[in-house]
Amino acid sequence: MNKSVHIAVVGSGYVGLVAAVCFAEMGHQVTCVDNDPRKVAALQGGDTLIHEEHLPELLNRYRNTRVKFTTDLGAATADAAAIFIAVGTPQSETGDADLSYVEAVACEIARHLTSYKVIVEKSTVPVYTNEWIRRSIERNGVDRKMFDVVSNPEFLREGSAVSDFLHPDRIVVGADSERAAAILADIYAPLTDGSYYTGKDIFPGMCTADAPPPLLLTSTKSAEIIKHASNAFLALKISFINAVSNLCEATDANVQQVAKGMGLDTRIGPKFLRPGIGYGGSCFPKDVAAFRSVAEQMGVDFSLLTEVEKINVQQKKRFLSKVRAALWTLRGKKIAVLGLAFKGDTDDIRDSPAIEMVKMLLGEGCSIKAFDPAAMERTQAVVPAGPRMEYATDAYSAADDADALLILTDWAEFGHLDLNRMRSTLRYPILVDGRNMYEPAAAAAAGFNYYSIGRPAAHPVREELSSNA
Ligand code: UDX
Ligand code: UDX
Repeated sequence: MNKSVHIAVVGSGYVGLVAAVCFAEMGHQVTCVDNDPRKVAALQGGDTLIHEEHLPELLNRYRNTRVKFTTDLGAATADAAAIFIAVGTPQSETGDADLSYVEAVACEIARHLTSYKVIVEKSTVPVYTNEWIRRSIERNGVDRKMFDVVSNPEFLREGSAVSDFLHPDRIVVGADSERAAAILADIYAPLTDGSYYTGKDIFPGMCTADAPPPLLLTSTKSAEIIKHASNAFLALKISFINAVSNLCEATDANVQQVAKGMGLDTRIGPKFLRPGIGYGGSCFPKDVAAFRSVAEQMGVDFSLLTEVEKINVQQKKRFLSKVRAALWTLRGKKIAVLGLAFKGDTDDIRDSPAIEMVKMLLGEGCSIKAFDPAAMERTQAVVPAGPRMEYATDAYSAADDADALLILTDWAEFGHLDLNRMRSTLRYPILVDGRNMYEPAAAAAAGFNYYSIGRPAAHPVREELSSNA
């Protein structure tokens, strides 16, 4: 029988809220603290505030029972054995991570600390942050023996965060004290000993009782670097395949075949080799920049990361050129845009390449009618509706009388459009697909002039040509 541990989670955003309900699912007692009272009230009422698969079910299952919500950090942490910090770490102007929220939370924890606690850094932070948190708590008058700071980075993808949490590839715990490591081991025991996977009504995924996830115990600094290095490596993989896709375009090769051929090598692996309009989201752009900045501060030449960023910027510009080449001129054109979120299955628009593209097209004098299944409300706050910016109720009404259709986010439903209906809705049958959602031949067979990433363009076969042939 595993121990139920009292846990406090500070920050109830994309990471904190998922962690809180998943800890409850694993049998722990959780109190979630957020300094935004409206958010706390919404969560108490059962509104997750974000679009994330399985989150509403889990919130309903545990809210106000095994997961409580409050703005009162002192009350939330009083009985907790572990306090997870999951507040945002946005990018500052210089590229470094802005750690002011983390520091503020550390000081507040210090003010309320009356018994031994493990303070767990869950937010993505640069190496040495653990040490800063420790110093900051000590500076607030807390005895060193009253706490430990450990690093337990998250590897959650938005859209599949719940299953990533409960079925992780690995759990990384960076701890420099045995006492702290033991508490973290207790917290994750239901996963690492496989018992969670024998339960009824569990969320399915790749881990099983026979193949539970490993817990990797490291130093705090190694854990901090594991997180940054993993995200930077994944971003590198994407920039690499984007650069390869450009080479494929220049040589009439097909990047899909190239990626498949590379990915079958088990040393490379097939994942994160999908070319597109560049990576975005709340993590990759800021984490690559922060990791580069850490390397610079430590006097380490890691200019490879600068190249990763450069390719990502160029990829967006190349896509704009592709749209221009398909349409000849852009000023005054009516463009249908499918997708605003930074990727499918989420309403998150932080650093979304789709929105950057929309802004660039508006800057070129286009009119846009956009549709996204989940991210329109958030987008309207940054790109308000106006004479040249409209929001549609579905994909087909976005396309109504438009000069071209662009796919900018890989929502599954954009890969299953009725292409014949779409063609007759558009003014011209031009589809520029930034996410390679269609086979070029199938799009051409449906009558489209089809342009995608790293694959030859495809055009409808004209009747007179085929009958002459
Ligand atoms: C997380 C991580 O923390 C970040 O490091 C990682 O790189 C991306 O994901 P995320 O959960 O996406 O951040 O952030 P957000 O959705 O903005 O949630 C943070 C929450 O913390 C918000 O609900 C905010 O109200 C709360 N907060 C912020 C506090 O409770 N206290 C503060 O001092 C600051
Ligand atoms: C990422 C990491 O995957 C996760 O481990 C980490 O903890 C948080 O950051 P997330 O930002 O939710 O997760 O999304 P992810 O699925 O990694 O995609 C990031 C960006 O890369 C998206 O814009 C996506 O469209 C793009 N991408 C991803 C590609 O362009 N090609 C790919 O092959 C994969």
